[in-house]
Amino acid sequence: MQPAHPLLDTPLKAGAAVFPSRLVLAPMAGLGHVAFREVLAAYGGYGFMVTEMCNARAVPRENRRLSPVFRWRDEEAGSLVCQIFGGEPGEMAAAARRIEAEGLSGVDINMGCSVAAICKKGYGAALLKDPERAVAIVRAVREAVRCPVMVKFRSGWENTPDLAVDLARRFEDAGADLLTFHPRVAPDRRSRPPRWEHIRAVARAVSIPVLGNGNVFSAADCARMLDETGCAGVSIGRMAIARPWIFAELSGAFEPDEGVFLRAALAVIEAVWRHYEPERAIKMYKKYAPYLAANFVYGHSLWPGLVRGQTREDMTENAVRILGAGPRVASTPNAFLFTA
Ligand SMILES: Cc1cc2nc3c(=O)[nH]c(=O)nc-3n(C[C@H](O)[C@H](O)[C@H](O)COP(=O)(O)O)c2cc1C
Repeated sequence: MQPAHPLLDTPLKAGAAVFPSRLVLAPMAGLGHVAFREVLAAYGGYGFMVTEMCNARAVPRENRRLSPVFRWRDEEAGSLVCQIFGGEPGEMAAAARRIEAEGLSGVDINMGCSVAAICKKGYGAALLKDPERAVAIVRAVREAVRCPVMVKFRSGWENTPDLAVDLARRFEDAGADLLTFHPRVAPDRRSRPPRWEHIRAVARAVSIPVLGNGNVFSAADCARMLDETGCAGVSIGRMAIARPWIFAELSGAFEPDEGVFLRAALAVIEAVWRHYEPERAIKMYKKYAPYLAANFVYGHSLWPGLVRGQTREDMTENAVRILGAGPRVASTPNAFLFTA
């Protein structure tokens, strides 16, 4: 089998690090946890995965056995980048030091999250309104660690690439090794399509690698993003939750069969209940289920059945009954479930 694009056969360099693939798992709060990443890792095909966003203030004292988000398996440390959010350069630098000391593969700075609770504190996408502070954070993190320093950001608050291009240059000057760019304005959650032409403008403006992000759902989308934008790699979020084999498939190393959805759902159930206590496990599985359901033509009517009940046994039975019946797979994910 061929990879989705010839570039996918080549490694990705970020600072002194070399990652084996140009495909990356995007950070996703509530979805990209240690249990889900274990399922994804079994398929392979990615360069690195990014954790859920972790509060920089908490990271230096966090207990990795207790924190739901600052938690990883030792086996994944070599391909795991930790994302932090915050607004104080000193706090971000301290968090980065801990992340490097733990042997993780890099630090990713969140400048994209537009959730009100984050933005009103001046974190996430709100930093794009305060470029001096945003740049100071990148510089402070750069001075604190030698591992790759990355920034994930979006278009800012106006639908032109101008701010993003300017910031990208300043992040590069401040020492960032890699940028991930999601070309949507901050108030625009996921309803309107991202402006891929803005990725092109950002990728052209800097000499460090820029990963494109937003609405890559298929091999054709992945190839088109690489061709149209000149980005160095592709960061995939929701589709990787719906199909954790997507990186292996895009790399040409995996061909899904019809049983793949049920096997993946059972693997997620097994891993979530092994890594987390039952009250948290059921919440995590219920957050994952709409993405699983989005794979199917009548996903919106399958979803309630997939999450009926409260126990691991209920979820297993639901998955076997519903997915075992071989529901029709949709060519593109169910948009209603995917904008959740
Ligand atoms: C449920 C959910 C949680 C997310 N959490 C984060 C996050 O913690 N940090 C971040 O930078 N982006 C976060 N994102 C944004 C994704 O990383 C990504 O930019 C977005 O989903 C677009 O990519 P996609 O079309 O491949 O899903 C989240 C997205 C979703 C759907």
